[in-house]
Amino acid sequence: MVNEVIAYLRCRSLAGETSLDDVALGDAVGKPGNEQAVESSRRKRHKSGQAAAAASNAIEVKPDAVFVDGTLGTAGHTLAMLRAHPTCRVVAFDRDAESMEFARRRLAAENVAERVTMVQGDFRHAASLLQPYFENRKVGADGRPITRIDGALIDAGMSLYQVTWPERGLSFRGDAPLDMRYDRTQEISAFDLVNRLSTSDLEDLLFKFTDERWARRIAANITAQRHSSPIRTTGELVSLIEAAIPIGVRRQSRVHPATKTFAALRLAVNDELWALDQGARALSSVLATTARLVILTYSSNEDRTVKRTFRRLAGRTEDGNISRSHRKRKPGRPSPGSWDSRTARSSLTFSLALPTDSDEPTGGVQPEGEGASVLSGTPGFGTTWGMKIVTSKPVVPTDEEIANNPLARSCKLRAIEKYLI
Ligand SMILES: C[S@@+](CC[C@H](N)C(=O)[O-])C[C@H]1O[C@@H](n2cnc3c(N)ncnc32)[C@H](O)[C@@H]1O
Repeated sequence: MVNEVIAYLRCRSLAGETSLDDVALGDAVGKPGNEQAVESSRRKRHKSGQAAAAASNAIEVKPDAVFVDGTLGTAGHTLAMLRAHPTCRVVAFDRDAESMEFARRRLAAENVAERVTMVQGDFRHAASLLQPYFENRKVGADGRPITRIDGALIDAGMSLYQVTWPERGLSFRGDAPLDMRYDRTQEISAFDLVNRLSTSDLEDLLFKFTDERWARRIAANITAQRHSSPIRTTGELVSLIEAAIPIGVRRQSRVHPATKTFAALRLAVNDELWALDQGARALSSVLATTARLVILTYSSNEDRTVKRTFRRLAGRTEDGNISRSHRKRKPGRPSPGSWDSRTARSSLTFSLALPTDSDEPTGGVQPEGEGASVLSGTPGFGTTWGMKIVTSKPVVPTDEEIANNPLARSCKLRAIEKYLI
């Protein structure tokens, strides 16, 4: 989806690459299978290709643009932005210090490090993390601070680098400590959730975060086991999950039986669904007018969260109606932004609430939002702004991309754009 990300951020397409339309059309053809499916895939992908091509043909970004990569990872997307737009600069965040070190070496080897400023931190805090660079601190090696943000990206979840690093405990293959934290200075890890949540909270977590059908049985197995000794490793957890799922079901399934449990724990440990909701709002607030936020997700719950958050930011409810954007929250009901995950977790009175449609919109029409208060002197702030949805349907990868990178199979791209009211 790198091409689509670049197109939706409105950089030029990567030099020398096939046009988005060609890729979109070409890969749906000539594959074995039913012709109707190929035709429907062709139509769907043609549409997504056209949309991306149209996006790339829209306003060209200015030469010295500044982009925010909210999730640097191993710098794949940052590199694509730098290559697509040879004079742009990138400010890149990641919660994971070790991934950032890897990215630093990669960017240096590619001779582009001087155009990138890396800041270890959570994209939810984009406004405060960016503040020094707006005021006086230069971005990149060219001695200039930022005056505006021309686009932002969130590529949600974990990177291949993190999954294949056994010590992180993100993979259900092999045996590693139950960790799963992106930021390894964070207090709570998967070990704490697995060993300290009540049976019903564990069940809720598995069911709500990844729709795990066997949530009750898995939770019961976990709590039965920890009466005798704590569950310390991914291998021990996998055995308990396997024992909870009937053998016939396991044999028929194409995915590993621990897939959903591991994903649910990872989402919870890193507070990822709330991060998407709050991060989309924070990054929207720091964008300049006409700039876009692009988000890539890899699971239905993440995509649903982004879809809902974008609809709220655009002032619409789930059914597409204009919402009563200033309605009062019922007394006693926590706002998503006010949930203090760290406090909640340290006592493990863990909140399983997820972002919903009915959470109060906090986007454009309220310039005193997180970013505006910090960056009130910068373009796009101090003025009333709104967000409009660019992708009415999510953009999905082409068959060719999936063939090259099977992990991209479930990827969905959504984009939103800022405007002045
Ligand atoms: C899918 S990977 C990004 C891969 C990257 N786009 C690339 O091309 O290499 C997601 C990265 O985001 C980081 N991450 C996850 N949640 C984050 C958050 N709330 N703030 C900052 N970084 C986050 C993870 O540590 C991980 O390195």
